[in-house]
Amino acid sequence: MPYILCVYYSRTGSTEKLMKEIAQELKCEIVKLEDGVDRSGISGWLRSGMQAMARKLPPVREFKTVLPLTAYDLVIIGTPVWAGRCSAPVRSFLRDYGQQLRRTAYVITRASDVRYEEVFEQMDLYVQEPHAAAVTIRPGSVGAEFWRDSFLASIRNGGKEKPGHAG
Ligand SMILES: Cc1cc2nc3c(=O)[nH]c(=O)nc-3n(C[C@H](O)[C@H](O)[C@H](O)COP(=O)(O)O)c2cc1C
Repeated sequence: MPYILCVYYSRTGSTEKLMKEIAQELKCEIVKLEDGVDRSGISGWLRSGMQAMARKLPPVREFKTVLPLTAYDLVIIGTPVWAGRCSAPVRSFLRDYGQQLRRTAYVITRASDVRYEEVFEQMDLYVQEPHAAAVTIRPGSVGAEFWRDSFLASIRNGGKEKPGHAG
């Protein structure tokens, strides 16, 4: 069995729910990223949007994994879309640790019908190899579970296929 790690940031729980489902299906370790920034309420929303637009890199808190990051065969990274980009804490994680990750797959969640597939390429700028699989999901949409399961199938299949998106 490959060693898989799920890492995610979630401000309001949607990415967290999805990543927990994915980790449970894959029976793999899961780690939540935290930063010290107050992202609550309207001011937190605005701060988060501005940080994402400015590609700010707020420090992420130290986190523990069972293995060193370099030892995982695959790291699945989950992030909400913020202002058309990956969330600031995930960008910080990628900046700090991206070069240690041997293979990556991405899970992005969003509120609109826009798929934001360009976020995958933005995230690839920080890692050694282009992502092996990726999915963009609007939580609660028709088809969200189908695309989650397609992503899981692609991971189980070695991550060669890119399952795409949910509406
Ligand atoms: C600051 C901010 C900016 C956002 N920008 C976008 C956006 O550009 N497009 C979009 O579809 N959703 C956007 N969203 C919505 C979130 O991506 C979406 O609700 C996501 O699933 C939330 O995940 P979470 O509950 O794990 O934080 C934004 C949310 C926040 C807080």
